[in-house]
This record gives sequence, structure tokens and C-alpha cells, in this order.
Amino acid sequence: MPVDLKATLIDPADPTYKPLLDNLQGNIIKAHGRMHTASLFLRFTGTPAVVKKWISDFARQYVTSTSAQIEQAKKYRNGKDGGIFGNFFLTALGYQNSQLGIMPRDRQASFNAGMKNVRIQDRLGDPPVEQWESGFQQDIHALAFLADDNEARLKAACDTVTASLNGVATVLTKEHGVRWLNDKEEDIEPFGYRDGVSQPVFLKGSTESPGETRWDPSASLELVLVEDPNVPGRDCYGSFLVFRKLEQDVRKFNEQVSRLAQALGTTADLAGAYVVGRFKDGTPVTLSDKPGTIEPRQHIDFDYEQDTEGARCPFHAHIRKTNPRGDTGRLAQPGIPLEQERRHRIARRGQPYGNPNGGAAGLLFLCFQSDISLQFEFIQSSWANGIHFVKMNGGLDGVIGQGTQVPDGPLWCKTYGSLDETIGFDFSDVIKLKGGDYFFAPSVAFLQGL
Ligand code: HEM
Repeated sequence: MPVDLKATLIDPADPTYKPLLDNLQGNIIKAHGRMHTASLFLRFTGTPAVVKKWISDFARQYVTSTSAQIEQAKKYRNGKDGGIFGNFFLTALGYQNSQLGIMPRDRQASFNAGMKNVRIQDRLGDPPVEQWESGFQQDIHALAFLADDNEARLKAACDTVTASLNGVATVLTKEHGVRWLNDKEEDIEPFGYRDGVSQPVFLKGSTESPGETRWDPSASLELVLVEDPNVPGRDCYGSFLVFRKLEQDVRKFNEQVSRLAQALGTTADLAGAYVVGRFKDGTPVTLSDKPGTIEPRQHIDFDYEQDTEGARCPFHAHIRKTNPRGDTGRLAQPGIPLEQERRHRIARRGQPYGNPNGGAAGLLFLCFQSDISLQFEFIQSSWANGIHFVKMNGGLDGVIGQGTQVPDGPLWCKTYGSLDETIGFDFSDVIKLKGGDYFFAPSVAFLQGL
């Protein structure tokens, strides 16, 4: 019997889900958690038969199912090595070029169009493709992704895979990701803020689901899963992946935070929290004007019901833009049901690149969803870039907003919690898209059977 995709917080030990988890690639409903990653962006050059054989071999050797990932995680918790982890993703061009079967389709066919499509570029406000890194400017067919805590083993696997591609595909570009950790060993992104705090939760018993009162992080499988059209009726699912290499201008970010803090007569800590919506330690600014003052549980379990004017957390703060937690129902006219707003959520699985001690750095942003147009594209275009989102002239998302800013910049409160005195300040332009594409993560059965 097919699995009900409306199910939330599924129990991986329930046999109902075994075929699904055995055939679903890892990292989609739960992060793989490895320290180092390598992403090889490929263009196929071999005949379809050669390409199919290579994909099938790669899948048998490296691609990790969700079931295997869960087993590895158990081993890891018992102090053992989790081992190497792998994924394989295809673009629409990849399916076409090597005749890999029926092309998966999302509702607005964003996947089929790809991230370089002019309609999509226009919707997202992205810089022209000629300004991307050269490897990403070319036609990408696939992404072979490997991850490991052991950097030397990852490098060796990468070299083996690259050598095996002779006569099969060209490596257009290679990206290395690495987790950046703060002094409490928590994940941070290159601006220094905790990342990966708030996520949709799919599995029962996940630590991120702490018995909520204000925000329910649980999500049904249909938020990220779609049936693999090439293996119908066998509980074989896949997911659409958005990949974006986003360079972060850390110096510019810090300079703008200092200038904003000066203009407001407040600390850089609080000014930065207004931009992101959280302090560096993850404390939501809507709950406190100081870091370290609330229980970790509340870092996830909160909403903006006590802050409907945006006097504590601005409407243009990154996390308020990208997950409004009911704002669109409470404040937008006409109100949108919470369930509809929650349908835009994405499973973020990105990782920083670069070195915390200097040089170019940023995020290899990855997110999974079942509908690219309704989820990633909607968040970026309607919310982050939408200057009138929830509030007229609210402004761009200070972290990722692209497009035309409101004249004189969005408004910021001089005193935490009070709208009596506000100033306009244009905080923007701190990240730059260097390249990316839309991919599909086919089922393990499909990949192995090619
Ligand atoms: C949350 C940074 C790109 C969507 C966060 C958080 C930080 C952050 C620090 C707070 C931690 C957390 O709640 O997990 C960044 C940086 C980016 C970036 C530095 C670019 C370099 C994006 C993009 C999107 C996005 C491109 C989607 C279009 C989200 C969402 C959340 C989030 C949905 C969770 C909000 C919540 O549930 O409260 N981001 N982000 N981010 N970000 Fe980003």
C-alpha cells in the first residue's frame, strides 16, 4: 500500500516506511551531519549507455539511502565512524542528454526550466549568468555529492570518482564545504550566526521537536517528497534540490552592522540581531534584546504574535521574512491560513565554504522541497525580495534580499520594542550569487537500476 505523504513525524522503525526509506536518498528528511563535503558538478560526455552504467556503479558504491543514513547515525552516536556519505542529483538537461527516462515535473515546471532560465532569473532578481563563476555558466547535467568527517578519506574518494569519469563526464567545477562551529561546537555561517536552528522536522524522536507551544516544527512528507516517475507505485520517492553558491561579504556585513548600531545608538550585537532576526547565539530578537537570556527550547518555539508591529524583530529581518510564523495570516490582507503559509517551508541542508580565518567565504546553500516554485522561489521572490511583504514599504531582507530597495531604506527602531522613533537605513547587498541550478534526487532504485 502506498505511504500516506500527509504523515508527519514518521517513525523510521515502523515497517510501513521501510520501502520508502530504503529507496529515498539520505540528507532529504534528515541532515547527514558530516564535517566535510565535496560537490562535483558534471556535464556528461559519454554515450547514454556509458553514462547510465557509470551512474548505476556510483549509486551502488556511494549513494546512501535514508535507511542506511539512520543506521550510520546510530553507529556514530555509539562513538563509531559514520563512514562516507553520498548523493547523486540530476538536472533536467541531464535527464534529456542521456535519455534517463521520464523527467520529474514540479507544478510550475521550474525544474525543467533550470536556474539559468530568464523567466526564473527575473523572478529571483538574480545577477546575469555571465557574472557567475565560469564552471556554473555551462550546462550542468548532474551533481555527485560526497561527505565525510575524515577529510583525507573524502579526498581519496573524490580522486577515485574523478578518475572514473574519464570518457563519461567533465567536472565543470568542484566545491568544498565544511561545517563552521562556534566555541560551543554549534554550526554557524560565515557572518558568525548560528545556522540550521529552525527546520521542518519529519522524523519522530528528533531532538529538534521539543514539545512546542507556539511553533510546531513538524512537517508532512509531502513538503519534500514526490514520487519518482520512473519507478511508479513502489514507494520510490525523490525530492527537488535547489543549489546556490552564495558568496558572503563578511567585511561589508560587519561594517554595515557597525554603522547601523551607531545610527541607532545601540550595540553591534543588537543591530546584527535586527538584521538576521537572531543574535549570534540563536536567541530570537523578538523574545529578547540580549543574547543568552532564554531557554534553548525557545530558539525554535516562538512566533511573532507579541510583536505584530515589528518593534522588536523588524519585518525585514532574515528569519521573519523567510518563515513569517503566522504573520501572513495575522497581518496581511486578506489573511492567509497558517497551513498555507507553512506549505512554503524548505528543508535547508547547506554548508559554508571558505576559511573562517579569511579569504572568500559563503554558503553552499542547499534546500529540498516538493515544489521549487511554491517553496524556494516563493520565499526568495515574494518574501525576501518583496519590499511590501506583510507591511507596505517594509524593505528587502537584509541578508538575501535582491532587487529594488525602498527609498531611504527600511525603518529600524531606535529603542527596542518602541516604534516612537525610527530611522531609515539601507542594509543590503552582502551576498552575491556565484552560480547554481535546480536538481532532482531520484530514488535509489532508479539510480541503481540504470
Ligand atoms: C534561517 C543565514 C540564505 C531561508 C537562517 C539563520 C541564519 C541564516 C543565520 C538563522 C538560523 C536558523 O533559524 O536556522 C543565511 C545566510 C544566507 C542564507 C548567511 C546566505 C548566504 C538563505 C536563503 C533562503 C534562506 C537563500 C531561502 C530562500 C532561511 C529559512 C530560515 C533561515 C527558511 C529559517 C527561518 C525560521 O524558520 O525561523 N538563515 N541564510 N536562507 N534561512 Fe537563511
